Formats: sequence, C-alpha cells, structure tokens
Amino acid sequence: MDESHMALPGENVAPDAPLALRGEQLVKRFGAVTALDGVSLKLGKGEILGVLGDNGAGKSTLVKILTGFHQQTGGTLYIDGQETMLRSVDHARSLGIECVYQDLALANSLSIYHNMFLNREIVRRGPFRLLDHKKMRERAAQCLDDIGVHVPSVDLPVERLSGGQRQAIAVARAVHSNAKILLLDEPLAAMGAREAGLIIDLLMRLKEKGGLSIIMIMHNYAQTLDIADRIMLMQRGRVTFEQKSALTSVSELMDIVRREYRAMRSAGAH
Ligand SMILES: Nc1ncnc2c1ncn2[C@@H]1O[C@H](COP(=O)(O)OP(=O)(O)OP(=O)(O)O)[C@@H](O)[C@H]1O
Ligand SMILES: [Mg+2]
Repeated sequence: MDESHMALPGENVAPDAPLALRGEQLVKRFGAVTALDGVSLKLGKGEILGVLGDNGAGKSTLVKILTGFHQQTGGTLYIDGQETMLRSVDHARSLGIECVYQDLALANSLSIYHNMFLNREIVRRGPFRLLDHKKMRERAAQCLDDIGVHVPSVDLPVERLSGGQRQAIAVARAVHSNAKILLLDEPLAAMGAREAGLIIDLLMRLKEKGGLSIIMIMHNYAQTLDIADRIMLMQRGRVTFEQKSALTSVSELMDIVRREYRAMRSAGAH
C-alpha cells in the first residue's frame, strides 16, 4: 500500500496529503523498562505536531528513535512513505531529519557563523582546504536574515547570546541543512516570555514558508495549542489522546491527565 496516501484520523490532515513520517506500534525497551509501549503517530507534510505528557512518559525516547539515536525494539517507521530503519543520527540526517535539543550541539566559544557550519564547513579551493570564513559569514547572515533571526553580528561567540537566541541559531542551523523534518525536544523550556516568543515566531515563519514538518515536545499546554496544528498526549509509554489543536482545549487536556492520575492512584490503593 502507498503509505503516503493514508488518511489521518480525525480529519487532521487532508486525506490525500502525503505524510512526512509515520510510526506504527513503536516499542522501546531498556532492559526491564518499557519506555514506549506501542506508539503510533503520523506527521503530515508542513504540519506541526505538539507532543505533551508527564515526566517519563516516553517523549524523549520517541524523539530519539525518530532521530536515529535509539533503535526501536519493535514497530515500523515510514519516512516519506518508505519503510525505514534509522541506523544512526547521521542516517536520519541524510534523510532530512534534524533534531534540536535545548542548548545542545552548539559550540559556545565559537562564533555564530562557525556554529551554523559546524561539521559542514565551507573550504576554499586549493591544496590546503582553508576555511572560507568570508563565504560562511555571508551565508550565515543571509540564512538568519531569511528566517528573521536578528543578531548584532554573526562574528559573536554563541556564549554571548541569550538562551532564546541560541535556540534560534540551533533551529536556523537545522533548517539551513535542508531539514525536512525538525524534531524539537522542549524548545521553550526555561525560557522567558520574550525568548519563547522569538522561537514561536521563527517556527511560525518556517511553517509559512512550507516544506518543513515539525514535531515538538512541550510542557506548556496553552503554548502548545497555540503553536501546533495537532497535539498528542503521551502517558506511560502510550498515546492516550490525539486531536487537532483547534478542537481541544487546555481544560480538556487537564481533565484527561487528572482522570488518568486518579485511575492510577486508585489502582495503586488496591
Ligand atoms: N537510556 C535509557 N536507559 C534506561 N532507561 C531509559 C533510558 N532513557 C529513558 N529511559 C526510561 O524510559 C522512560 C521514558 O523516558 P523519557 O526520557 O523518554 O521520558 P520523557 O517523556 O521525555 O520525560 P521528561 O518529560 O522527564 O523529559 C523513563 O522511565 C526513563 O527512565
Ligand atoms: Mg524528555
């Protein structure tokens, strides 16, 4: 069957919209711990999916499977309709899957432009493979400008930037690398309203440009409903709720979580 033409549940994406990614019954065990207990998910092209859930629900584990860092114990992954076993982070990257962790993967003492070309530096022609700083500077400035990220100078070391600006650079870098699927693990964690606003604006602009599908793990329900087209709630390694953002609310999500919590407590009491 052509996976790219599967209809999504709940009319969340047009029935014939191609899927960027699909996971079917993903299981991940770490020894005796079952972190993912049969998670199925779909991500439409150009869609933003928000993943919510308690600590230890399996959100980061899911992202680490989608980014090739962990391999699933069971279940199947389809990238752009093709059944794919992601062997490594590099393998996932070669398929256009990039992950941005909070404050991770940036070299703080290096300049903004150097960070944007980390591990894919531009070198000058000739026998010595000298770095082409001029070109990297220009391209970095252009790329940041394209997506509306404003920094005083691309020569500034990353450590001189705010948390929000740093996160924006990490996102810009992933986008610059032609990511088709962007995975964000708590991009707004520990950020003030202004910094979070910067990232939200950036994500919205990327969405408008099209071509990029995003999965973001979030903590704040209201913020998630604002940004994401669809949300998915994970509890104890399973997906317990999934809905278009416009069709649910913070209070509905809170009710589901509370109900689950009560059920767990009463089960524990017996
Ligand atoms: N490398 C690992 N080895 C063993 N157990 C792990 C490993 N990674 C995660 N786990 C376990 O898997 C479960 C899910 O963890 P995960 O980090 O995916 O949760 P999370 O939803 O991201 O939580 P949080 O909101 O706290 O970040 C937890 O019980 C955790 O202890
Ligand atoms: Mg996590």
